[in-house]
Amino acid sequence: MSNLRALILAGGGGTRMKSKKPKALQTLLGTSMLSHVYRACKQITEDIWFLTGSQSEQVQNHIKKNMGENSLEKCVFQAEQLGTGHAVLTAVEAMQKHALPIPKEGKLLIINTDTPLITAEELEVFIQNSQNLDLSFISLNLDEPGSYGRVMRSNFNENTLQIPSQEASVNTGSVACIIEAKDFYKKYPLCEIYEINTGIYLIDFSLLQDLLPKINNKNANSEYYLTDIVELAHKNNYKVDAFPASSETSTLGVNSPAELIEAEKYMQKRENEKHINNGVLLHYAESVNISPDAQIEEGVEIFGPCEIYGHCSIATGTVIESHCVLKNAKIGKDVAIHSFSHIEDSILGNNTNIGPYARLRPQTNLSDNVKIGNFVEIKKSNIGEGSKVNHLSYIGDSEMGSGVNVGAGCITCNYDGQKKHTTTIKDGAFLGSNCAFVAPVSIGENALIGAGSVITKNVENNKLAYTRSPQKSLEKQK
Ligand code: UD1
Ligand code: MG
Repeated sequence: MSNLRALILAGGGGTRMKSKKPKALQTLLGTSMLSHVYRACKQITEDIWFLTGSQSEQVQNHIKKNMGENSLEKCVFQAEQLGTGHAVLTAVEAMQKHALPIPKEGKLLIINTDTPLITAEELEVFIQNSQNLDLSFISLNLDEPGSYGRVMRSNFNENTLQIPSQEASVNTGSVACIIEAKDFYKKYPLCEIYEINTGIYLIDFSLLQDLLPKINNKNANSEYYLTDIVELAHKNNYKVDAFPASSETSTLGVNSPAELIEAEKYMQKRENEKHINNGVLLHYAESVNISPDAQIEEGVEIFGPCEIYGHCSIATGTVIESHCVLKNAKIGKDVAIHSFSHIEDSILGNNTNIGPYARLRPQTNLSDNVKIGNFVEIKKSNIGEGSKVNHLSYIGDSEMGSGVNVGAGCITCNYDGQKKHTTTIKDGAFLGSNCAFVAPVSIGENALIGAGSVITKNVENNKLAYTRSPQKSLEKQK
């Protein structure tokens, strides 16, 4: 749909989360709710807008970092959080004044940021169903409708709605309005309605411009409810309908820690099933957490507990043992990652062998056949083909060639208290154990460094260098 614009509502304070973090930035499987919703919308339209309000600076920084600087142009700020109706009105008014025109005969897909389980497939079906309507939304039938807004239909009869099983016969007909839970119980204390509003709407811009200013705040929360637009549209003869979600879990709302944990469980199960069906072997799958942004080829084997967050890609034949944490890592073919290794923003070539207990920090780039052993930390370094850093070392800001052997306990001293400096270690160099390389410093091809040396000057190709003081043997004093 070329005339479709999406608006993600992320302005609410999220008080029910009882957290200092903005609700939009609460994470499921390591990714913010906002990013989960954005991922689904992105597959539907390129034209995505954001409404921020509470803790706006943090939310906008997140948008800039994760959705690109250009996205900030489509952020609208809601100075006071007066409710979802006020949020959408603020956004639409800003769009009317914006240099980017509102799509002609366009529709706005409005989605709450706290529905992180939503999928592009669910949205696609909904948009398809809504073609001939002025206003539509996704509804859901729940046994325990809790705090969701209730969908009231034209044949609703409060007098017979005393027993749950009667609902099917007493809340039928066309959609008349949505009543928020608090207001519903106030008005109908003995009733229940099981069809709820999921907070995902598709509405014509012309309808929004006509009716949003007419929403008032006369309700239990004294807020401007977006949901009131349904009754206004119905009464003004717009075409209104609701479509039940195709999957019960994809539209669940997250307002409290308990709901977040529940939603995260569903997401974990859904992602794991997808990978298992694609031929990824997940041992102890219930303790394997994989972000929906990860791409994992068939023939990969992962042992839980294990966390794979962000935009990771893992090629076939790779085995990841338990207790590993990977974030935005690009892992080649036939890699072995042993237990308790942490890998972040790094690239690992084919056949590399990592850990146990290794830590690869951002901008680590390992060529094929590299071996990084236990208690080794690597940061912002390129390690050439077949090089080995097997035990207890720190390599930072380094350029290492191929076939290098780093002995146990070697340290690149990259920081002088003010600046970081580079250590260069060329092809075939052999570094004895327990050496310190005070950067900036360069070790030549096939150079040999004696164990226990503190290297402060460049070493030429094929030279042996050491700074060890001579060993003495003295008589012990009595
Ligand atoms: C809302 C719906 C309810 C629906 C439920 C589905 C309303 C009035 N109620 O209730 O019918 O069943 O979602 O999950 O819309 N927000 C702003 N600015 C504000 C207030 C909220 O941007 O001033 C944003 C929030 O960040 C959130 C979304 O709007 O993403 C919904 O707000 P929330 O307070 O979570 O509404 P619910 O009570 O869940
Ligand atoms: Mg909510």
